[in-house]
Amino acid sequence: MATPFARILGTGSYLPEKVLTNHDLAARVDTSDAWIRERTGIAQRHVAAEGETTGDLAFEAATRALEAAGVRASDLDLIVLGTTTPDLIFPSTACLLQHRLGANGCAAFDVNAACSGFIYGLGIANQFIRAGSVRTALVVGAETLTRMLDWDDRSTCVLFGDGAGAVVLRADTEPGVLSTHMHADGGYKELLYNPVGVSAGFRDEKNHGVRVLMAGNEVFKVAVKTLDAVVEETLQANRLEKSAIDWLIPHQANLRIISATAKRLGLPMERVVVTVDRHGNTSAASVPLALDEGIRSGKVQRGELLLLEAFGGGFTWGSALLRY
Ligand code: UT7
Repeated sequence: MATPFARILGTGSYLPEKVLTNHDLAARVDTSDAWIRERTGIAQRHVAAEGETTGDLAFEAATRALEAAGVRASDLDLIVLGTTTPDLIFPSTACLLQHRLGANGCAAFDVNAACSGFIYGLGIANQFIRAGSVRTALVVGAETLTRMLDWDDRSTCVLFGDGAGAVVLRADTEPGVLSTHMHADGGYKELLYNPVGVSAGFRDEKNHGVRVLMAGNEVFKVAVKTLDAVVEETLQANRLEKSAIDWLIPHQANLRIISATAKRLGLPMERVVVTVDRHGNTSAASVPLALDEGIRSGKVQRGELLLLEAFGGGFTWGSALLRY
């Protein structure tokens, strides 16, 4: 039998109810709606309610994806969940999700690749399906990044939001995911990181707890260059001209980064799914949230060629090319 492809059967997403606008933030730190919109494209973001966890958001998104796919949770062979903000240190959020869905027994694990977590998850699930060892997989990106922010640091607290997105993949003779590309360079740790943890200790040398530290401008420059390179790599691996791409579904960190990638592809912004204005940067959730919005809004049609990409802490980055 020919090597199977991983096809998307259904997608789902979920955003917490509470919305935090730029004006809300301007009342708290020295920033303005104008600065945030101009430098990032963000107007608002969603914030998880007290007690609402990454696993809760993941459960809602996964339930919607299973419904859209017409797949029962008990049919899942694999759950991969990209997150940097797990509910607990262990069990993994994927295991918590598996139990709530009623998919007990299948393999389930988290992937920590920061903002590239969903792309990594998709790459992993794709390999399992191509190898023939998994028929049906659930890939989730879910985050409560706002739990990790220093709300007095204007350079980071205006950027992030909470949310979750999910896809159900099934082995098929028709494509499907055509290729995935995953990369990392740990040499860039200092530019974007959270300096505390289980083994390093829960307080850093300045006696600070959990928080996101980012040299935004330097990250920006590397992100644009690196995303250009991974887009090029993806086109070359598939022997495609950039004109073949129907939709760019990018990681939503900054509208200026998204526009630079679209320009590189020669794609008008009407062919790019943009959610950063309403969601902010939801890290591993941003690509599946954008994908689900593109599909449910009726923009993205069956048979179209989609280029997904992401870049984040690590640094990690990657892409996926798929025929929807
Ligand atoms: O998803 C993971 C990957 N992350 C990213 O891709 C994020 C990449 N970086 C970015 O998106 C942008 O670099 C930022 C949006 C974070 C910052 O935009 P920027 O144009 O690179 O600004 P900057 O960091 O160079 O700062 C410019 C000025 C500084 O003031 P001075 O030194 O020029 O006086 C900052 O202090 O803007 C100031 N600033 C702010 N002003 C008002 C920084 N944050 C704020 C703020 N409100 N929230």
